[in-house]
Amino acid sequence: MIKCENILKKYSDRTVLSIPQLEIKSGESVCLTGANGSGKSTLLKIIAGVIPFEGKLEAQGSILYMPQKSLCFDMSVLSNVTYSLSGKKKDKEEIAFEALKKVGLEALYKKNASGLSGGEAARLSLARLLVHECDILLLDEPTGAVDIEGTEIIENAVKSFVKENKCTLITATHSPLQAKRMSDRVIMLEKGEKVEDSSPEELLIAPKTDFGKKFVDMWRY
Ligand SMILES: Nc1ncnc2c1ncn2[C@@H]1O[C@H](COP(=O)(O)OP(=O)(O)OP(=O)(O)O)[C@@H](O)[C@H]1O
Ligand SMILES: [Mg+2]
Repeated sequence: MIKCENILKKYSDRTVLSIPQLEIKSGESVCLTGANGSGKSTLLKIIAGVIPFEGKLEAQGSILYMPQKSLCFDMSVLSNVTYSLSGKKKDKEEIAFEALKKVGLEALYKKNASGLSGGEAARLSLARLLVHECDILLLDEPTGAVDIEGTEIIENAVKSFVKENKCTLITATHSPLQAKRMSDRVIMLEKGEKVEDSSPEELLIAPKTDFGKKFVDMWRY
């Protein structure tokens, strides 16, 4: 369960996020959408606990967070994944290699991660999470830089992970189709405020905003 009450985030005097009330139940798969600068990453960072904010947040359980900008360590792709594991080297490498396979990056396991493309780095960033367990998985535009085939691979890997872990999922995305594939609830932000919050079915019937209308048009046609 994630519960936000009177969450406020300001940079200097500018309010970039204002969420009076938001509750996400355990096991829900939610997509977070909205225009550039609407506050998606800010909300995910607040839930992940990586930035300070005003207000009250309850987030029960362990959290894994994939930031929008992928950070890769200056070491091999495989070591980037084994880095956070404990145990025998061989076991860690086997687990890491399996995770790389899940995101379609196994062929590059020996390559230095600092030379990865944007889409490859995103896949690696996700593989690093998939070797762990969690109650809440936060993904900030996981396929923003990934090609069509990679997007399908990543969505399937995330879906299997969520099913296995029975975890709550929040995915920030600009893609209405990804939202439909990945979530059973759509939360839309506009200038830091929540303007839509409903199931895809409800949103399809009655979008409240112009952005909401454009969003569901992608599902109709
Ligand atoms: N460190 C910061 N300092 C000042 N302003 C910031 C900072 N981080 C974010 N902002 C501002 O907060 C607002 C919300 O940013 P955020 O990154 O949450 O948007 P977003 O919805 O994730 O956008 P995008 O779709 O481009 O990823 C933006 O106007 C951004 O400029
Ligand atoms: Mg963002």
